[in-house]
Amino acid sequence: MSLESKRRWSSGVGAATATPQAGDAARRHRGAGFQQRFGESERDDAWWFKPLLQALGLVFLIGYANYAAILGPAHYHYIANGRHYLSPFYSPYLHPSWLPAWLSPALLILVFPLGFRTTCYYYRKAYYRSFFADPYACAVGEARSKGYCGELKFPFVLQNLHRYFLYAALVFLVILWWDVFKAFRFADPDGSHFFAVGGGSLAILASTATLTLYTFSCHSLRHLIGGKLDCFSCAVAGGPRQKAWGLVSVLNERHMGWAWVSLFAVCFADFYVRMCSMGVITDPTLATFRQLFTLPHVGGGP
Ligand code: FES
Repeated sequence: MSLESKRRWSSGVGAATATPQAGDAARRHRGAGFQQRFGESERDDAWWFKPLLQALGLVFLIGYANYAAILGPAHYHYIANGRHYLSPFYSPYLHPSWLPAWLSPALLILVFPLGFRTTCYYYRKAYYRSFFADPYACAVGEARSKGYCGELKFPFVLQNLHRYFLYAALVFLVILWWDVFKAFRFADPDGSHFFAVGGGSLAILASTATLTLYTFSCHSLRHLIGGKLDCFSCAVAGGPRQKAWGLVSVLNERHMGWAWVSLFAVCFADFYVRMCSMGVITDPTLATFRQLFTLPHVGGGP
């Protein structure tokens, strides 16, 4: 059976059911699910499973992120045994003197990563489906079929700020890579530094690397680099832009995967640093390169 012959059209109230023909009036045919009762569907697969799984994953990981950023400021970094690990939720680290002791410094910067994630095209799809059931899945009756105005009105019109959060995310990435450098730079008691690899170094590297892949697979970045162009050869720096656009497009195909892997990796890096700081685990030194080269001392950070 061909794909087209398997395709079903809405049997919902007031919707046409005949197969569309050339010349039919616009909006005569609506997708299955249109004006059907909430949750009603002709689909016979487990269409409810993916939104449910997404909801559980988001509740768990966002719940942990909130705990770490708001309630857990006592263990955001680990500076001991030559290590200097900083939780990604607290980077860039800002702790002005006027900040009350009971307020987590993570709250000063949280708006940027939070805004970037909540306005992300993939996450929008995930939480619209999982939490708003709007729609719950393709070809399934929606909770709300009237009055839908897309993202044209407050508060959803704020989703259009995504590209500005992208600019902030690109700046944050530079700072996070600096934290990676510090996580691989171990200190001797005499103040000299050397390159070494600890468990925390790898956790922080994984967090920043996956965040980089997530950011560089962003739909807005793809549009900005070349997606908006009709003609690369007519544009300024068209050749390099086409190459960059091609690379971002390859990453973009896996944007959903990078969104999940990076969220998990950031939470894991915070968890690892937290466990070291609380003394629950002892960070292993996996390799040292003391004889190869030493690293310069650089100040800053907590
Ligand atoms: Fe997901 Fe930009 S679309 S980060």
